[in-house]
Amino acid sequence: MLTRTQIRALVDEHGRDIIEHEHMRIERGCYQHGSVTTFAHSIRVACLAVWLADRLRLWRRVDARSLVRAALLHDYFLYDWHDWDDGEHRLHGFTHGGAALRNAMRDFRLNHVERDSIRCHMFPMTPKPPTYVEGWLVTMSDKLSATRETVSLSRFDNPRLMGGRGRGRVRAPRAGRRG
Ligand SMILES: [Fe+2]
Ligand SMILES: [Fe+2]
Repeated sequence: MLTRTQIRALVDEHGRDIIEHEHMRIERGCYQHGSVTTFAHSIRVACLAVWLADRLRLWRRVDARSLVRAALLHDYFLYDWHDWDDGEHRLHGFTHGGAALRNAMRDFRLNHVERDSIRCHMFPMTPKPPTYVEGWLVTMSDKLSATRETVSLSRFDNPRLMGGRGRGRVRAPRAGRRG
């Protein structure tokens, strides 16, 4: 069984170009759930997806590289969803898989497993389920991570709640999940 260190090393090995891409600076500055940035959330989802594949003994059916890259890019929509949709967030949950895929295809070469896994990661909010095992692992890991990040008390450490980004607005923590 893979250790946490080995899992993180796998994520770094297969996703280094993604992690180091200049557009990841945008993810590092956008909050996904509470005090967790989209970048940190994406790393967590990638690590958890690898952990699940390992503990469920799925390596005969799962391509580790595709799994890691789809997980790292599943929320590559490159905006702060708290600001999108005029603050209503009504459509973000339904549309951001497509936005993430468009951005990811612009910046990286993706195979069909990665593309499908990114596009369908919000199932069942979107009608089409993932086609591949990798996609199911990404969507399960995303929901598990999002739930944990949403209910964690550390979410109140988000500097935005303290007016820390200079926008002069103080927001209440979101109760909903936006994977
Ligand atoms: Fe996510
Ligand atoms: Fe998402």
